[in-house]
Amino acid sequence: MLPEILIINGPNLNLVGRREPGIYGNRSLDEYLDDLARSTTEARISRMQSNHEGDIIDMLHERGFDNGIRGIILNAGAYTHTSLAIADAIAAISVPVVEVHISNVAAREPIRHHSMISPVCRGVIAGFGLDSYRLAVQAILAIDQQQ
Ligand code: DQA
Repeated sequence: MLPEILIINGPNLNLVGRREPGIYGNRSLDEYLDDLARSTTEARISRMQSNHEGDIIDMLHERGFDNGIRGIILNAGAYTHTSLAIADAIAAISVPVVEVHISNVAAREPIRHHSMISPVCRGVIAGFGLDSYRLAVQAILAIDQQQ
């Protein structure tokens, strides 16, 4: 069976396509991720989105010890910059997590320059628009090849 890659999207990412198009673009994230799942042959892509911190933590706990999951792609939205609880959950689990951002957070307001979760993630991909997710899938498949 193909390995799984789980994509977790945090708050306000359900509005991508309608939300601040100058920053996040006009394309719906759901539509983009449907295409990404269809075109990825090396893994099965599953995903969830939640606007609630606890739901994201619950999902990390539920799936984060699953040997069938090759990696988790996490765009924690604004929780990236605030959530010690999500950082602790990532540190607790065994599945590698890749932090993703659609925008180049380092080029935005200073409050977005600090990530609570980067130190406990395997790596960070930011600033490539929706293609940040595609690059993260490649990164996870590459991690596995190194093992
Ligand atoms: C984001 C960047 C965050 O700073 C912001 O709060 C988001 C989206 C991104 O994908 O660029 O909601 O994670």
